[in-house]
This record gives sequence, C-alpha cells and structure tokens, in this order.
Amino acid sequence: MAKGEAAQGRQGPPPGAVRRAEALRREIEYHNWRYYVLDSPVISDAEYDALMRELQELEARWPELRTPDSPTQRVGAPPREDMGEVRHRIPMLSLDNAFTEEEVRDFDRRLRSLLGLEVARYVCEPKFDGASVSLRYEEGILVLAGTRGDGYRGEDVTPNARTIGTVPLRLQGRGWPRVLEVRGEVVIRKEDFRRLNEERLERGESPFANPRNAAAGSLRQLDPAVTASRPLSFFAWGLGEVSEPFARYRHEVMRRLRQWGFAVSAYIEVAEGVEACLRYYRRMLEIRDQAPFEMDGVVYKLDDMALSERAGYTARAPRWAVAHKFPAEEATTVVEDIFPSVGRTGVITPVAILRPVEVGGVTVSRASLHNQDEVERKDVRIGDTVIVRRAGEVIPEIVAVVEEKRPQGARRWHMPKRCPVCGAEVVRLEGEAAHRCMGGLYCPAQRKGAIRHFASRRAMDIQGLGQKLVDQLVGQGLVETPADLYCLRKEDLVGLERMAEKSAQNLLDALERSKSTTLARFLYALGIPHVGEATAQTLAEHFGTLERIMEASLEGLQQVPDIGPVVAQAIHRFFRQRHNREVIRRLLEAGVHWPSPRRRGGALEGKTFVLTGALEGMTREEAKRRIEALGGRVTESVSRRTDYVVVGRDPGSKLERARALGVPTLDERAFLRLLEGSG
Ligand code: IVH
Repeated sequence: MAKGEAAQGRQGPPPGAVRRAEALRREIEYHNWRYYVLDSPVISDAEYDALMRELQELEARWPELRTPDSPTQRVGAPPREDMGEVRHRIPMLSLDNAFTEEEVRDFDRRLRSLLGLEVARYVCEPKFDGASVSLRYEEGILVLAGTRGDGYRGEDVTPNARTIGTVPLRLQGRGWPRVLEVRGEVVIRKEDFRRLNEERLERGESPFANPRNAAAGSLRQLDPAVTASRPLSFFAWGLGEVSEPFARYRHEVMRRLRQWGFAVSAYIEVAEGVEACLRYYRRMLEIRDQAPFEMDGVVYKLDDMALSERAGYTARAPRWAVAHKFPAEEATTVVEDIFPSVGRTGVITPVAILRPVEVGGVTVSRASLHNQDEVERKDVRIGDTVIVRRAGEVIPEIVAVVEEKRPQGARRWHMPKRCPVCGAEVVRLEGEAAHRCMGGLYCPAQRKGAIRHFASRRAMDIQGLGQKLVDQLVGQGLVETPADLYCLRKEDLVGLERMAEKSAQNLLDALERSKSTTLARFLYALGIPHVGEATAQTLAEHFGTLERIMEASLEGLQQVPDIGPVVAQAIHRFFRQRHNREVIRRLLEAGVHWPSPRRRGGALEGKTFVLTGALEGMTREEAKRRIEALGGRVTESVSRRTDYVVVGRDPGSKLERARALGVPTLDERAFLRLLEGSG
C-alpha cells in the first residue's frame, strides 16, 4: 500500500475521510444487521443506498480506505484463481444420529453414567440442512472463512462468505476474544429457494435439487459475485478456536454470539433432562413445515461445556451431543403416468402420477415436472422408479430417476400439440421454458383468471366484479367467457351470495359503463401473453383498428416499434384461435366499443387533463377512461401544457399549481357537462 502511494506521488486520505469512512462502515453494518439478522430495518432502502454510495465513492477515491471488513466488499470481491485451503485447528466433527426416542434415551443414559449425573441439561437446537462453515475473527474482524471439507482441511471461501448478509464482517459490541472462530450453517430459506429455482427455470437453467445443494454450490463458487447473487443466510451453532474462553454454558455462548451480531436460531431452548428434549423434538416436528428454512432434525448438546470436555470425543463425533433426525423428506416410488395440467394462466405443466408413498409423514401421489425440458433433462419415463422429495408445503418434486430400475418399455412423454382442456393450440414461445395453451379467452382452465383480468381496473374497469364474484359466476355456470358477462340479467345475479337487488343493479350499471372503452384497454383486457398496457397502447396507435391487428401477419407485427419476435408470435397465435375470435365477436356484438380513428377529433382530441381530488359520481379510472374515449389524454402533473385540471373533493397541490400557472379548472359538474357535450 505504502509503495503504491510513493510511486504515484499521491497523498493518503485526509483524516476527515478516514473518520467518515469508518463511521459509514459502522453505520452500514449496523443497518445490515438490522435488516438481515433482526429483519427489522430502521431506514429506507434509498437511505441505505445513499450511505453505501458515499462509502463506495470515498473508497474509489482513496483505495486504502477499502478495508477487508468494509461492507462494500460484500457485493463481490474480484474472482480468485482457485480456492485456497483452510486448516481447522479444532476439527469440524460430525454428529452421531438418533432416529428413535429410544436411541435418544440411550444416548442420555450413556452420557450421564460417563459423567455421573442424575439429570443432564441440554441445549436443543434445530439441525439446519445446509453447508457448514467456520468463520475466523481476529481482533473482531472477519479474516478467514472455510468450509468443513474433511473436518480437518476445508476450502477457503472468505470472499464468498463476505457477501452473505448475515455474516458479520466485524463483530459488534464488546467482550469478544482476540481470536474467535464461529461455526454455523449457510442455508437458503425455503421461499428464497423456490424463487431461485423459478428464476433458473425461466432462464432455461436446471434447478437445484434442494436448498442444501443450492447453499453448498453457491458458497463454493470461484466468483464471489455469483455467491453474492444468491440469497444465502448464515446461522451460528457453535465455536471453533477461541483465544480466551468467555462462557461456561452453551446457552450463554449463543446469547453472546447474538449480541456480537450473528443470526442465531430463534428456536433454541434449554431442556432439563431427556424427556424435555423429546417434547422439544415433537414440537419442532410439528412446526417443521412452517419454519422458514429446512431442518433435517434437532440437535441436543450438553449445556455445560466444562463437563462436555470431560465426556470427550470419538474419532468422528462428540460424546456430548446427538442429532435426532426427522423422518426423511425423500422416498422412492414409481411413475404411473404423466399428464399435462393447464394452469390459470394457460401454462401447461407436466405432472407425474405416482404410486402413493409416504414422504416426511405425508402421502404423496403426484409431483410436478415443471416443463418439457425438465422431463427431458431428468429423463423421466412412465414406469420409472424415481426419488421424490417433499420439503415443507412445497409441491413434491422428482429429484432423479433410479435408472437401474427402469423397466423395459418405459414410455417417454411429450407435450401434447393441443390443449387437453380446450383443444386450442399449444405453443412454446421463443425464449420461454413453458408451453402455453393459446385459448386464453375460452379455455375452461383459464376462465376465472381471464375474466378477473378482463374486469380489472386498468382493463375494462368493471367495478364490483372482484375475485369472489367471478368465482361464483363461473362456479354456477353463469359465465364461461368474458362475453357472457354482458348477457347477465338481474335475475341471474340476485340470489348469489351477498348480492341483493341494489348491488345487482350496480353491477349491471358498471357493465354497461364499461362497454365504452378504448382500443388499448380492450386489447390489454384480452390477456394475450406478453401484452401489457404499454404494448396494447403501442398496438392500438400503430394499427388504429382491431381488425387490422387481428389480421396482421407475423412480419407486420414485428415491424411495430418495441414489439419483438416473442410478443409478435404470442399476438399472432392468440388471434389465430377460432374460439378467441368468437369471444371477441360476441363482445363487440354486446356493444363494447371505442372511438374509431375517424370519429376522433371530438372536442377532447389533443386535450390534456389532470385529475385531483375525489369525484362524487365516478372513480378516477372511470373519469380517465371517459376522457380517453373522447380522444383526450390524462397526465399526472400540471404544466403549462395542461388544458384542464378537474377538481374533486379534497384536491391536492395540483390545484394550487393550476392556479399559479393559470390553467383552467373544472369542478365535477363542469367536467360532466364537458363530457356530455363532447360525446
Ligand atoms: S453441532 C462437533 N449444531 O450437522 C460437531 N451441527 O451432522 C458439532 N449442523 O457438521 C456440530 N445444524 O454441519 C451442530 N445446530 C447444529 C447444527 C449442526 C446443522 C450440521 C453441521 C455438522 C453436521 C453434523
């Protein structure tokens, strides 16, 4: 460092910058701890980002301020050539396992007789299913992180460990020994695991088999930036080398570790005697599914560490602790069939029908195979024996095929060309892992989702038509496609749950109002895959009429600005489905309409409106729609280019701004007159 300065003839950082960097590091670490460990942040993301940016700028200007414990180093230090080795002076041993209550009682009896105890007090903890690491702190600073390896030598994963939010780069508080090795488990929360795998599937990558593999794989990356991109957490469960002992009891150790900034499981308890341990086990087994991370059992450890040392170790494991394992979450069974299941959004998922088998205490008879690529990658065939895994409440998965057991004539499965529910085409859009049914407006499997979307605020804005009502309408067979909504009669509605005369009339009025819309809203309401509001708007502006969009060729669609081949294909296929066209025809017949390009040029053409405050007679969305239907535009903020500000009850600062700029204002009555006069 000193050499570099001399060569460049540069001055070191001024004392003010050194102090500021130090203050920023502490503050950011404090917020990391609040966020990652306590899950209770006290500043906004933006404020946090500002602190981080300031520190990054200081470090960029004076690289000597970039200490190894700087929180900026969490986001990925430069890639390393290879993993170095870490030697564990205190070996990282394994644990003996107990599978039954009797085995646990045996363990307790043995330990008590060895130590001459009447009753033994234990610390009970979850057994995390992850990858173990040892973190070495010298003078309170993280200097080394190693994997378990063979227990004596592991891999140096220091830059990777630094990227994990719950690994303190510097210890908090006081009283820590000069050298402190904290051991624990790197895990991925179930929810993060699910998301990680979903993202991998979307990118066409193969998913991880389970959170443990994902955690271990992420920790051992050569490039720390990859580790940084994975949602890892670290939970401390014990100690390695310690220069000055600081506690006699394990429960005390855990308390101190928590004070020094480590995440320690909230499920840790002290139990007097083995029966209390077993009660703990039964409770943990009950909540296993709800716990945020995976556990494969619980661990009982003698609380008194001085006594523990007297009990000692076998070559493999301590005599003072035992792992009481939960029933396995994996089992083998046979795939009896595979069938395509059509989801609410039209995505078709291959589902394996399994010979029923108990996994983790639950009978499993189906497992998701995600998509065609997964079926091929795992090479699952009908008749195969497979390993199934079930963790928590997630849908069971097929981990792998036991190839040695494949019977002759095991059949391969292929995605059908037509939707098994509605018969529409099945298409795999470019760049997508999933196959979809293209019968969006018609397919019974997609009915509820399609109708709900059709009615939503930014689509046709049918007020009062929420999920519950859609469920009822579809459930009772009153509505099959969005077009049926416009055939509803009052007598159909009265008698539905929570639907009196008045609310039925309100719904019919809302349906009537929704008929007057814009082409862009209508297109968006159709729920074409990949067509959001912006794309719908672009299509409407480019083509002008629905007919032209429906008849457009694939090439024609691709020429529209911002519409790529995937979206063009989705639109093209959607309109090629006879049933979708039929529903559209019926919607238009029912009176759904929008201003045609020629009819534009009404009083509101080219006029810009801003809405402020609540209107009595209509919602903001409705006001917007009516302005748009007459060719006007609604924007968010008032400028000199605004033509009118519509002022409702309790207007905001927009009214003041309108007055300041001299923009005309309309109260609700004047606004209504304008609308009616222009219609
Ligand atoms: S204590 C001397 N406590 O399980 C060994 N280990 O099967 C002390 N593990 O290598 C280990 N959760 O990686 C301990 N609460 C917990 C644990 C735990 C998970 C892992 C650890 C250990 C393996 C043994």
